[in-house]
Amino acid sequence: MSRTLRVARTRRELEALIGGLRREGPIGFVPTMGALHEGHLSLVRASVAECARTVASIFVNPAQFGPGEDLAAYPRPWEEDRALLEAEGTDILFLPASEEIYPAGPRAFIEVEDLSGLLCGAFRPGHFRGVATVVWKLLQIVDPAFAYFGAKDAQQAVIVRRMVAGLFGRWTIRVLPTVREKDGLAMSSRNRYLDPSERGAAPVLFRALVEGKRVLERGERLAGMAVRAASETLSQEPLVRPEYVALVSLADLRPVEEARGDLLFAIAARVGKARLIDNLALRVGERVLEILP
Ligand code: PAJ
Repeated sequence: MSRTLRVARTRRELEALIGGLRREGPIGFVPTMGALHEGHLSLVRASVAECARTVASIFVNPAQFGPGEDLAAYPRPWEEDRALLEAEGTDILFLPASEEIYPAGPRAFIEVEDLSGLLCGAFRPGHFRGVATVVWKLLQIVDPAFAYFGAKDAQQAVIVRRMVAGLFGRWTIRVLPTVREKDGLAMSSRNRYLDPSERGAAPVLFRALVEGKRVLERGERLAGMAVRAASETLSQEPLVRPEYVALVSLADLRPVEEARGDLLFAIAARVGKARLIDNLALRVGERVLEILP
């Protein structure tokens, strides 16, 4: 299905475009930073299937990049992104300038305490404050019935859910499965940074998670044993420099000793210029089931 995509660059333009559509039924919203791939498009498809109208945003959010990170280098293939969104049936693309989201003057930020300093937050100080703030602002501006997020960024999904629940937001957050390349590599805009040998090494993140899960499937319940198996698999690729390998509780993102209940097996690693993340959300009881974070 192909509809005409309309582009709004300011909050005013967006309100004018959305205003008339609200009567038609629920609005779905897919926030992105662009450089779109099948992972993003799976979210757009879910929204188009569930909602009367779909709004996507592309905004490379300066507040979630630290000093020395890839804000300037982040890919911005705007024409391709526009065509992909249109082909999927997106109705409105919100493409704000930085000043539209962060007007001059004192800034207000949102912090989801306790969760934002763990896992990736320990390596990217301020990152999740930037994410929570921009997602809150975008949700306020678009005011959708449903907003769609990917399990690939599991910590982000957990933080967004807690933010919306804790601040009494009225939007329903949907989290969809990670879309992968054939060799298991989680799709990411940052995969574009990989040279051919790095691209060849990168699927080890997923293999390491699968190896860790296999240890649990064999009946092992000491979290450290599963983490060790994953770390050993990861160390087979010298081009991959791990930041963390962790088995944590999905509820509070803190490491567990005993692997039981709803858990997140998460990995972050540097590969060349790219920082890559991947995870499996697992329900560990008698058996080990994959779930969504
Ligand atoms: P971005 O990395 O562009 O991702 C936008 C959305 O696509 C996020 O919800 C992310 O989890 C999802 N996504 C990315 N790769 C995916 C994959 N392989 N499979 C499924 N979903 C995937 O995440 C952000 O942007 C930003 O932090 C944002 C939420 C837009 C706030 O700035």
